[in-house]
Amino acid sequence: MNKSPIIALDFHSAEAAFTFLKPFEQSANVKVGMQLYYKEGPAIIAKLKEKGYGVFLDLKLHDIPNTVKSAMEVLAGFGVDLVNVHATGGKTMMEAALEGLDKGTGAGLRRPSIIGVTQLTSTDDRQVREEQLIGVSLAESALHYAKLTQDAGLDGVVCSVLEASAITQACGQEFFKVTPGIRLADDAKNDQIRIATPEEARRAGSTHIVVGRSITAAKNPYEAYELITSQWEGLN
Ligand code: C5P
Repeated sequence: MNKSPIIALDFHSAEAAFTFLKPFEQSANVKVGMQLYYKEGPAIIAKLKEKGYGVFLDLKLHDIPNTVKSAMEVLAGFGVDLVNVHATGGKTMMEAALEGLDKGTGAGLRRPSIIGVTQLTSTDDRQVREEQLIGVSLAESALHYAKLTQDAGLDGVVCSVLEASAITQACGQEFFKVTPGIRLADDAKNDQIRIATPEEARRAGSTHIVVGRSITAAKNPYEAYELITSQWEGLN
């Protein structure tokens, strides 16, 4: 997957997603999450790939290793570019996910990249302490899971921009830091708490940014995409 911003296709139907995508170059990257995938199934992935989009299939798998391995074998067959699992499923589960992807990738094709979700960006310190009974801070827990993800052989993590530089220090620059919660300076935060601009993400060491409403809810989505891309690339 190239480094262009990944547009979160948080739409209720394939029709709405493709209507939105009309002005976009077909080389753009998109993220299909649970809502759209559960509604439209593998057909929407096939159609996006056929049109040339880079596809991040954001299903956040978390189950016993054998089940995750079999599921990943299926997802690899879709020809997607990026998939993910919850790192809290453990190292053996993540290794199994990787095995499944390798097995499901056709001869001569490139295996999809795979990243781990460390702590969800909706999780806060209180939940880590009182619900998960973890005796360290959220930031330390996220960093620990990033290292575990790397030990399991995965390509990177989903994290907030605020965690990106510590994870770069621990896991290196090449390790993917895919960061949502991106907003232009004068955009609404909506329900995101820990947000950053595309430029802040670049400076913090994010390798990819995921952008939803700053593009999809903009008056002119294509203009917003171009502005975000130029800030992300450091062109203005
Ligand atoms: O509209 P917005 O830019 O906030 O959308 C961000 C996208 O990234 C959504 O699809 C959301 O589900 C996803 N995401 C996130 N935080 C994570 C993982 C995924 O916001 N930790």
